[in-house]
Amino acid sequence: MSDSPTSAAELGPFAEIARADVDLAPYTWLKVGGPAQYVVEPRSEDELVEFVTFAHGQEAPVRVLGGGSNLLVSDEGVPGFVLRLTNDCFRQVEVEGDSVAAGAGAALSHAVSQSVAAGLAGLEMLVGIPGTVGGAIRGNAGSRAGEIGQVVKSVDVLTAKGERFTRTEEELSFAYRSSSVNELVILGATFALKSEDPSAIAARMRQQWITRKAEQPYGFQSAGCIFKNPRGLSAGKLLDEAGLKGTRVGKAEVSDRHANFIVTEEGATAAEVRQLMGLMQARVKDKHGVDLE
Ligand code: EPU
Repeated sequence: MSDSPTSAAELGPFAEIARADVDLAPYTWLKVGGPAQYVVEPRSEDELVEFVTFAHGQEAPVRVLGGGSNLLVSDEGVPGFVLRLTNDCFRQVEVEGDSVAAGAGAALSHAVSQSVAAGLAGLEMLVGIPGTVGGAIRGNAGSRAGEIGQVVKSVDVLTAKGERFTRTEEELSFAYRSSSVNELVILGATFALKSEDPSAIAARMRQQWITRKAEQPYGFQSAGCIFKNPRGLSAGKLLDEAGLKGTRVGKAEVSDRHANFIVTEEGATAAEVRQLMGLMQARVKDKHGVDLE
């Protein structure tokens, strides 16, 4: 791999949309981690395509940062380019009949509320899940009530070489917290929803929201559940039974509300979070003989 461009001049026309040496911690929910060599915020889809094609030519690493709610950035930071789809053109949510089309950069909560307001059911079980539509699709975000993959009709993607195409339902598969979408960039998606009495949808949504707020540490710096649930088991329950609630490494702590959440305080480091994760895994392995992923 060749070195990424090191000066604005080498970025040519993209110097206007790139910032060098940008701290990524503020863009993540855990608020830890080092700088990106460059953060790039394209102003249109065409500009994004041109930029990705350019970066491919440079053989520079490119990553996409969504809402940062399920992300641990290393203290050393990230080489190459970190893309953020923050421009309005990537954040539109449009209702068309029983379908909703959403840009990858839209907040998932925005797609949920627009759908519910239009009397369309299918996304309301995602209420309270942070992050962007793109991130939610990549990791098949969900709860016990359902996952986003169940309602995805198509996903628009952009490859690392700069080719745009649409993946339709038949070409998509979703599993627990994972999807088959592996292209560099998710541009947007359409969801197939069902018309329903808006007050019934809103009532279900309210119920979900109340439960989640009661069980999970809202208003704290966290990244959602840290470990996946092993088949048929709850990681949170295993961690709790292993006595991990309240365990600390530096400024990272296992939430005393839900043992599968790590909460951080200002000044925490990624190394502390990783060390705490290792400790959690070791204790659960010790007590239950289960490997947490
Ligand atoms: N539990 C404990 N102690 C704890 C945490 C949980 O005993 O510290 C028990 C609960 O009392 C309950 C069981 O474990 O009997 C399951 O807990 P919970 O209902 O909180 O569900 P979960 O399996 O821990 C999953 C998802 C969450 C999702 C909730 C609600 C995973 C890893 N977690 O949590 O998703 O919000 O269900 O639907 O799949 C995420 O993926 O980031 C996430 C937060």
